[in-house]
Amino acid sequence: MVGHCPITGSPETDGPQTFLPVIVMHGVIGLKVIINCAMSADGKIATKNRKQTAISNDSDKERVHVLRNSVDAVLVGIGTVLVDDPKLTVKTEYVQTPKNPIRIVLDSKGRTPPGAMVLNGAARTIIVTAKESVTELSNAEMIRCGRGRVDIGELLPILEEKGIRTLLVEGGSEVIWSFLRERLADEIYIFIGSVVIGGDSAPTPAGGEGAASIDEAVTLRLKKADVVGDGVLLRYEVGK
Ligand SMILES: NC(=O)c1ccc[n+]([C@@H]2O[C@H](COP(=O)([O-])OP(=O)(O)OC[C@H]3O[C@@H](n4cnc5c(N)ncnc54)[C@H](OP(=O)(O)O)[C@@H]3O)[C@@H](O)[C@H]2O)c1
Repeated sequence: MVGHCPITGSPETDGPQTFLPVIVMHGVIGLKVIINCAMSADGKIATKNRKQTAISNDSDKERVHVLRNSVDAVLVGIGTVLVDDPKLTVKTEYVQTPKNPIRIVLDSKGRTPPGAMVLNGAARTIIVTAKESVTELSNAEMIRCGRGRVDIGELLPILEEKGIRTLLVEGGSEVIWSFLRERLADEIYIFIGSVVIGGDSAPTPAGGEGAASIDEAVTLRLKKADVVGDGVLLRYEVGK
């Protein structure tokens, strides 16, 4: 059971509370992109060794699995696959009859290890490489897109052609920055856990090159703020 209560002060927190995503598209293409990540109270998404660590509480985990179950595809970068080896499936602990979304990995050079959990056959998987890569992997469909690095602007229409209408970007830091920088995300949900991780090298929700000036910074509009157990969930619309 997801436990939450609204933070007062915003009209958006009034009315019925639900954690099911509201699918409202405002992007130029008919594919809704939601970014979701969990960060510590000091803004870190993993430890200084880039290792996954407990940030979410049980209520937030349930929210993420319900969200995952509601989208057509989930996407992560190869950095996350190499460090965390996530399954990216929906746990029956949280959703009784899971409908696993398609798993997508951005992996320009085809470095996904053949034994990675995303290749375990538990759900359809797409590995996206740059055009130069000749890697083939069992249990995965390959998409070649972009020169040198996967071009996400080119990728989204290809995913749309495959019938994907809702895409959940689950990290990591570099991939989230790419979606934000290219204004290809519609919403970003950030869960703030009650823990401090510290460390200059620990990744934050948006890494990559980052903005050189405020003009390059990505603007957000706060839509909702909820207390979820001992943490806070912020939901923003991304400025285009
Ligand atoms: N707390 C959370 O919610 C959460 C969730 C997920 C991950 N994490 C953490 O995030 C960290 C991993 O993040 P990361 O930044 O190292 O790796 P990442 O964002 O998962 O993957 C980055 C890699 O993806 C590939 N890529 C391909 N096309 C790209 C594009 N257009 N834009 C950006 N990347 C592209 C690049 O490698 P190639 O050039 O080889 O393709 C790039 O180095 C880990 O510490 C993990 O634990 C935290």
